Amino acid sequence: MSVRQVSVTLLYFCPHHKKTPDLTTLEDKTMHMRFTRLMTAAALLAGLLGTTAAANGDEIDGHRIYEDNCAGCHDGGRGPQRGSDDWTQRLEAGQQTLYTHAIEGIGGMPARGGNKSLSDDEVKAAVDDLVAPTKDK
Ligand code: HEC
Repeated sequence: MSVRQVSVTLLYFCPHHKKTPDLTTLEDKTMHMRFTRLMTAAALLAGLLGTTAAANGDEIDGHRIYEDNCAGCHDGGRGPQRGSDDWTQRLEAGQQTLYTHAIEGIGGMPARGGNKSLSDDEVKAAVDDLVAPTKDK
């Protein structure tokens, strides 16, 4: 829900509207504007807090990052395939080596899967997601 939608929705709960609003009187207009501004500020604040939580890395969704940036190759016939035994030997090198190679690139593997905007933690989460089915075998 966008901030705009939130403020529009909130207008319906404006206590002022319990009686039929008469926006032609100055008093009505002022009350109405104050309420709208207050609620818009609250909605903006809520949106801001939500963004901060995501930027802190609390909400990294490794599977979504994998699907968006890595599945094209690792589920699409290029490079070691998700869930295949190709990973058994690679995993022996240790998770840290896999992270480093995913971040810096190796052979046909582009750095960060070709998406420079991914943070180290996001790439690592995608690696975790990629090798999980092999580890669980
Ligand atoms: C353009 C295709 C392509 C994309 C996109 C891609 N990979 Fe790869 N990946 C490869 C290939 C090819 C290899 C094998 C490289 C080699 O060992 O020579 C590989 C290897 C790897 C390895 C093993 C490295 C090692 O040390 O053995 C990891 C981990 C990995 N990719 C993770 C990812 C992650 C995470 C993403 C998404 C952020 C991703 N890859 C996106 C092609 C791709």
